[in-house]
Amino acid sequence: MLKSQVLAVFLIISGFAARADGDSSDAGTVKADDPVIMEQDIDFESAEKIFRKSCRACHGNKAQGAASYPKLSDKEPEHIAEMLERYRAGEKIGPNSILMIQHAKKLSDEDIANLAVYVATAFD
Ligand code: HEC
Repeated sequence: MLKSQVLAVFLIISGFAARADGDSSDAGTVKADDPVIMEQDIDFESAEKIFRKSCRACHGNKAQGAASYPKLSDKEPEHIAEMLERYRAGEKIGPNSILMIQHAKKLSDEDIANLAVYVATAFD
């Protein structure tokens, strides 16, 4: 059942895609790989829409997973957000990352935060 209350969460989004090469140690500047803390109200309706349209065909109605499609409902929101960030950056993680990369590329930071909390909490 869809939870109707709005949660405010902090998610740590790291700049995996933009790791600084070399040793640029400018004190005082924010480095590309410093984690960014995002706070936003979680929009369950928006997350549910995206999940139905572009996630559940593979991950299942309740994010329970199947065969080579991982279960998501037992993961922490931080993990889900981190994985979506990495796929969005084009990182290859498992043998089937290409399937995720093409879907993650369409997601905004807000979509990722919404989906991470939705997937981790909506199917308890
Ligand atoms: C075409 C099938 C497909 C679709 C659609 C899809 N996924 Fe995936 N997903 C996969 C596969 C396969 C993997 C494992 C990829 C790998 O080997 O790296 C995966 C991995 C993941 C992971 C990492 C799981 C873990 O255990 O760390 C997350 C999180 C995830 N998907 C979320 C989503 C979300 C959210 C959507 C919708 C925006 C989505 N996926 C759409 C197939 C899919």
